[in-house]
Amino acid sequence: QRGKTFGMIKPDAYTHIGKIITAIEKNGFVIGNLKMTRMQIADAQQFYGEHKGKPFFDELTQFICSDFIVGLELIADNSVKKWRDLIGPTKCQVARVEAPNSMRALYGTEGVRNACHGSDAPGSAQRELDFFFSDKSNLKSTAVF
Ligand code: CMP
Repeated sequence: QRGKTFGMIKPDAYTHIGKIITAIEKNGFVIGNLKMTRMQIADAQQFYGEHKGKPFFDELTQFICSDFIVGLELIADNSVKKWRDLIGPTKCQVARVEAPNSMRALYGTEGVRNACHGSDAPGSAQRELDFFFSDKSNLKSTAVF
């Protein structure tokens, strides 16, 4: 069914925003909202709260705060799966073998530096969309940085 997902371009890939948005459009998504911003560490710890306690948590949250990021509301049929297919497997080395045209294969590096994020289900998509785009969001446009 037609619906929304949340996508994020991470600090290692925001300089590739044009190519990533071109891929988003070619794959039939409509962009409903977009925000270029930076997270503070408390924002990152909240956004990635489900990963608290995992060995990569500190590296992940520090990395996500290291430079600009871009949040996207992406609208399409089966949007959650469609965006996860376009970004490719979590591990970039796997992505380069299994999905060589995916965003993570093309623009990611390794480990936490995997270019893009995608919500894993409609519920988390709504939570993550609210985190970025609701009136109560902490995240400011890059104009303030
Ligand atoms: P993302 O889609 O943003 O969701 C959680 C992130 O944690 C993931 O992309 C990676 O950046 C990171 N991550 C998940 N699993 C691992 C792992 N095994 N090693 C390092 N980083 C990981």
